[in-house]
Amino acid sequence: MNQFTWDDSLEVGIPSLDNQHRHLVEQLSFLMETLYEYKSSGQVEAILNFLELYLDNHLKFEERCMTAYHCPAAQTNCIAHIHIRKTLKEVKLQFQKEGVSPQLVEKVQRNLYEWFVEHIRTIDIQLTTPVRSHHNEIARDTSTPTSPPLH
Ligand SMILES: [Fe+2]
Ligand SMILES: [Fe+2]
Repeated sequence: MNQFTWDDSLEVGIPSLDNQHRHLVEQLSFLMETLYEYKSSGQVEAILNFLELYLDNHLKFEERCMTAYHCPAAQTNCIAHIHIRKTLKEVKLQFQKEGVSPQLVEKVQRNLYEWFVEHIRTIDIQLTTPVRSHHNEIARDTSTPTSPPLH
């Protein structure tokens, strides 16, 4: 299996969002391992159910962040999110109908796991610039006290 290691170049600078990405990549990797060493349908169902909920929350949160930071990739990101939601639904249905098959494993590897990492690397990462410039603006703003008065 093609193992991927998380690295800092994938961080956009919003800690909660970066943690969600790291966690989702771990869970997708865990799903791959579970499919390779298939033992029970319950285990796969549990990961898929978790992923569906966690991914949905993540995508909504990230879309709100992109709007808030006026990220130029906001629209492209929303369209890509429709795609991954659909893929996850298809994987779940396919698993319920046919169980584990080489086609399913291939689909999870390419269209979920690798797709997601590539999506962070090319689309989500575009949040980095607006997030950084926002933080720099705050740092430059001398009217905002950076620490409370000492008396
Ligand atoms: Fe995204
Ligand atoms: Fe994301």
